[in-house]
Amino acid sequence: MNYCIAIDGPAGAGKSTIAKLVAKKLEFIYVDTGAMYRAMGLFFFENNLDSEKQEDVVKACENADITIEYKNGEQLVILNGENVNGKIRTEEASKMASKVAKVKEVRVKLVELQRKLASVENVIMDGRDVGTQILPNANLKLYLTASSKERAKRRWKENIAKGIECDLDTIEADIIARDEQDMNREISPLCQAEDAILLDSSTMTIDQVVDAIIELYNTHK
Ligand code: DC
Repeated sequence: MNYCIAIDGPAGAGKSTIAKLVAKKLEFIYVDTGAMYRAMGLFFFENNLDSEKQEDVVKACENADITIEYKNGEQLVILNGENVNGKIRTEEASKMASKVAKVKEVRVKLVELQRKLASVENVIMDGRDVGTQILPNANLKLYLTASSKERAKRRWKENIAKGIECDLDTIEADIIARDEQDMNREISPLCQAEDAILLDSSTMTIDQVVDAIIELYNTHK
């Protein structure tokens, strides 16, 4: 039987950083489901499609071929044959992803792909609906969060380190808006699964969170 760890939580809580480190330690495959919504958002953007128009949604679901490959342990998102990892991390792509993630047909398409990945490997998968929808029978479910102030500070530091100029208050406002959108959408809103364990990383270091998860894994084996 494959072992599945589900990590859900709001934007900027550190899910992907932490899931990648845990995956390495446990030799699991890391699956970043947000990257798939980002790739879908990019497809809408590059093809001038409107996620609120049914015909455009149908077009996107038929024509956006999203697959996942792994290179040196890193997940690559392939959109119609192109590795789009480099294109999906902009603020613009984040906003588009959040918009298309509200569309039922998009979610159905991506959830199928996500379940397929978890059916063949031990995975640690992060997103918004992993514990509630994608893998309701996951062996270990975690809900990782942090205050919006702390999450904004982390994003600000990342941007500054990359030489991207930005404003802390604007980042926090964007984070709050995205939380609103993700938590209040009709389909698969972000919420903590009943059987998920809450981890608030506001005052924890990355290593502390990773250690806490490994410890939980060892007690849930
Ligand atoms: O985790 P992320 O920031 O890369 O996610 C991008 C967007 O996709 C975010 O607005 C929430 C959405 N998403 C989702 O609805 N369901 C998932 N399983 C993962 C992400």
